Amino acid sequence: MRILGIESSCDETAAAVVEDGKNILSSIVKSQIDIHTQYGGVVPEVAARNHLEVVNPVVQQALDEANLDWSRIDAIAVTYAPGLSGSLLIGAITAKTLAYLYDKPLYHIHHVEAHVYANFLINGQGELAKDLPTSQPKFPLLALIVSGGHTQLVLFSDHGKFRILGQTQDDAVGEAFDKVAKIIGLPYPGGPSISKAAIHGDPYKYKLPKAKLKNKFDFSFSGLKTAVLRAVQSEVGVNFSFPSHKLPELLNEEQQNNFAASFQHVAIESLVDKTVTAFNEFSPESVVIAGGVAANQELRSQLKSRLPVEINYAPIKLCTDNAAMIACLAYYQAQHQAPIDPLELDIKPSLAMTSRM
Ligand code: KG4
Ligand code: ZN
Repeated sequence: MRILGIESSCDETAAAVVEDGKNILSSIVKSQIDIHTQYGGVVPEVAARNHLEVVNPVVQQALDEANLDWSRIDAIAVTYAPGLSGSLLIGAITAKTLAYLYDKPLYHIHHVEAHVYANFLINGQGELAKDLPTSQPKFPLLALIVSGGHTQLVLFSDHGKFRILGQTQDDAVGEAFDKVAKIIGLPYPGGPSISKAAIHGDPYKYKLPKAKLKNKFDFSFSGLKTAVLRAVQSEVGVNFSFPSHKLPELLNEEQQNNFAASFQHVAIESLVDKTVTAFNEFSPESVVIAGGVAANQELRSQLKSRLPVEINYAPIKLCTDNAAMIACLAYYQAQHQAPIDPLELDIKPSLAMTSRM
């Protein structure tokens, strides 16, 4: 079964073709990062307009790269939740129109659940499939989902069956990376720029707090972000009323690197602490990490040293937003859920992932 996936929930317009939930035949991602960098974050209006301009060529490119025409596509899958309304709408309208026109079954996919499925794509023929793991994860599967909008630990007993063990009570970890980068004057997106600066910094230079929460699997990052702000203010000798956008001018490169390293160390350690606790409690067969922050090398190395199992990592281009993960999840969803009528499909911008047993 060959599925064409479409993803447009934030600032990437993406389309991909995946066969049987494991073979990646094409994956096109058109990022808007260059456009949003000048504003220091994603501007929803601008994002939607850009999706509109590129979505049709991106879908066509995904078909061309897979060397397929519509007659050889069995179904269409699209992200319908969660995300920015205008952005989600463009992908959803495109998918429902194509499904209607070409008479294909349509599957509506939850973006956060789909991030986990980047780990189900495996090694095969062609340039794209060359760096992928040789086997799929096994159930029970513990997934740490860490992105710009989400931070949660999920235990999957099978496809479509999962329990949310814990989640962030405030900021997502990727969002914390983005906000801390802004405070210390590193460019958007903060994840990659903080991890680059952190290589040259001392992770123990500034003592930063780890949140303590009632549910041992929940996360919180807003206190850590504020602690970085206070530490920067104290380092440069100003009080809390000093305009925060002027703080970066007062930091030298060494201080910037040390703040990046100290923040990254604590943020990543709190993700790893909870993943290890969950691993010990539930003894899963496999552990995967998913979402944009899964690209973080410090996260990968801390997990490697603290977990007794090997983790197969998806390549970085499949950790950040893409449509291959959407088309991949759709294959498994199709085994237990009927397709949706294209005329009935609606977006759900704030629909969270909830336990489904
Ligand atoms: O999954 P994603 O592409 O989009 C969402 O669904 O949110 O995640 C984007 C997030 C951003 O917050 C970005 O700063 C973060 O992933 N990110 C990283 C790294 N690369 C991207 N965070 C930490 N380290 C990285 N290397
Ligand atoms: Zn995402």
